[in-house]
Formats: sequence, C-alpha cells, structure tokens
Amino acid sequence: LNLTEIRKHVPITERLTYINHAAAGPLTLEAANEMKRIVDEQMYLGSNFQVWTPYRKFIAEKFAKIIGAKSKEEIAYAPNVTTGLWAFASSLKLGKDKNVVITDLEFGTNIWIWHALKAQGKLGELRIVRNVKGDIPIEKFKDAIDKNTAVVGVTYVSSMNGFRANTKEIANLAHESGALMLSDAFQAFGLVPIDVQQEGIDVLATGTYKWILGPSGYGFLYVKSSILPDLGIGLTGWQGIHPTLKESLEHPFDLERLELPQDATRFETGVHPIIPAYGVGAALDFAVQNQTISKFEDTQKRLVAPLMEGVKKLGAKVQSPEDFTKLGATISIADKNPPEAVDFFKKRGIIVSWHWVPGMSPGIRVAPHFYNTIEEVDRFLNALKEYSTEKATLIKA
Ligand SMILES: Cc1ncc(COP(=O)(O)O)c(C=O)c1O
Repeated sequence: LNLTEIRKHVPITERLTYINHAAAGPLTLEAANEMKRIVDEQMYLGSNFQVWTPYRKFIAEKFAKIIGAKSKEEIAYAPNVTTGLWAFASSLKLGKDKNVVITDLEFGTNIWIWHALKAQGKLGELRIVRNVKGDIPIEKFKDAIDKNTAVVGVTYVSSMNGFRANTKEIANLAHESGALMLSDAFQAFGLVPIDVQQEGIDVLATGTYKWILGPSGYGFLYVKSSILPDLGIGLTGWQGIHPTLKESLEHPFDLERLELPQDATRFETGVHPIIPAYGVGAALDFAVQNQTISKFEDTQKRLVAPLMEGVKKLGAKVQSPEDFTKLGATISIADKNPPEAVDFFKKRGIIVSWHWVPGMSPGIRVAPHFYNTIEEVDRFLNALKEYSTEKATLIKA
C-alpha cells in the first residue's frame, strides 16, 4: 500500500497531525471495527466464552511470529506491561545476595517493581545504570553486571528520548554472568523489527496501545521456554493454573499435587480483556499484512532525520542520540516548560507530548510513525519556529 492508501486505514490523519506514538498510537479502522463487533456481540449474546477465551491463543501465535519466538507456548497475555513484568518478576527465585541491573532511561514501571521486591527483602540490590547525554555506553553495563546479577532489564527503546539499546550486546553480557535478559519493548513493538531468539532476549513485555496501533487494556509477556524450569510460582490465577476436571474432582485444591503449566500460560491471571483482544488481533494483522514494521528505517530517514535537522536549525537542543542505530523514532527537544508547549501545538492541531530525561532537561517528545508525511513534519517545524519566538522557553543547543 502507498502512503495515501495506508492513511485511509488510520482515520486520525483526517483530523490531526499526530506525531505522538511514544504516548499512544491512534486505532486503525480495522482495530476499532473489530472491537465494535465484539461490543455488539456481548450486548446481544452475553457470553460467548467458547470463542472469546481461546482467542487469546490465536493472537498469542500472531504475536509470537512477529517477535521471532519459537511458539505461542512462550507467550502469556497481560492486561498491561506492568502486570506482565510483575508476573515474571514475582516468579523469580531471588535472595539478598542477588542484584538486578536496570537503567535510568526505563519507564517507571521497570524500576518500581524491582524497588518493591527490594523493599520486601526479596532482592539484595537494584543497580541503576545512568545515561550519559541520553545514551548508555555498553561499558556501563559491563561495570554493573556481576555473577550475582539475576536480571538485566533494559527498555528496548526509551520512552524518554527514543534511545535504542543494543539489546544483543547487553544480552551477551548478561548471559556471560548467568543473568537473564529482560526487555521492556513497549516503545519498540510495532516500530522496530524484533527477534527475541536472535537478540538473546529471555523475557519481553509489551503493551499494544502505542506503535502497533492497537487498544489499551492488553499486552504480552514472552518468556523463553528453556528458562521456565528455573522460575517458581508468582502472579498467577485460574487462567494460569489449570488442573484437569478429573484432577479437580478427585483432588480438589490439593496443593501438594499442584503442577505449574510447562508453558508461559502460568503467568496468566484471570479472564483476558476480551474487547481489547479483538482490537489487538486486527492491529497485528494490519501490521503484518502491510509490513509496517519493515518501514522502520524508512521512517527514520524520511521523517526523523529532517525533523532532527529542522530542530537543530532553529538552534534548539535535541536530547536524543543522533546516531540512528541508537534511536527509535522519538526525539526529545529540550524545553523549560514542555506542558505549555504541548498545549501550544495542540491548539494548532499537532499532537505531541512531553517527558523529562534524567540528567538533562524536560523535553517536547515528538514521535512520528510510518504513515506520517514529510508535510506533517514540516507543519510541526513551522509551529516550533512560531513557538520559539513567542514563548522563548526552548533550551538552546
Ligand atoms: C517503555 C514503557 N513501558 C511501560 C509503559 C507502561 O505500560 P503499562 O501502562 O501498560 O503498564 C510505558 C508507557 O508509556 C512505556 O513507555
């Protein structure tokens, strides 16, 4: 599909200049229609669990293919990233002698859960690798990881400034020390081609309401099958543990006989979010059928490069890596008052958001995607010029 055709499937393009995928993606027409269909189904049929419940396996299989997992048995649904990460973290056999290594470019959730485990006395140390001007040199990981490291948890692409970690290199370091490689891939899934096997990722969590253009209320947890035997029982529920009917009748709730499933479904909790699930199914199909993820480098060249150039020409400070091998498609433009900037652009029909970058400044966060046009980037740059003369809060390079 060409750009004009593809934009017909992303109806927000009719109304707004939407370059805010680091916050949330708009729904495609297909994702919205699928959810409307299921809303009607529940309205007129009530329960249709025979179809709705196994549907989670159907989309798990699609997801598994997109991220290069071996099979759907390595995938659990999670209602959001936070719950997926908790399901994994709570199943680890940690201890006071163990440490977890993360970075300061994580989204908060991948910090708070480890902090909580430490506060509960289940984890000895949480090591936060600090960024250097928005980038995290690999040497910093070398210094932080040791033989007591249980998990190295790194955001695939940072929500703060678009920094893209070299996951494979970090995974190699983790594995050399016997640690697991965990990736929070919410800012990458739907944007960057991911191959968990090739990149050495043991555990990956993502949601579906950003770059994949699906709804909120859904997410996936990938857990490599070979690490399952080392994990215990953590966050789980009736969808996570399923004794046979015979077993339930003959030995009801006999905990001595409790067996965890040999696949990732053990991390599932209650009923999966049914209405979003159907939107997710449509979003995954849309991405695969139109090969949207393979357009990542084109998005960088066609949209992110001129965006960055334009910002720099205005003398403003970019707080994102300029080396595109270390970047997703999000850039942070330093500003003293970014919430005001976000409003300024919104009044002009341009949607962006803001974030802070640790050790740097707050920033206007601009995140275009494959279906955006260069005209939209130019519209933003013209508005930025206007903003810089009117408000004078942009921080100079
Ligand atoms: C990298 C990353 N992880 C996790 C989240 C939040 O995930 P959830 O609200 O689905 O738990 C976000 C949200 O912006 C994010 O950017």
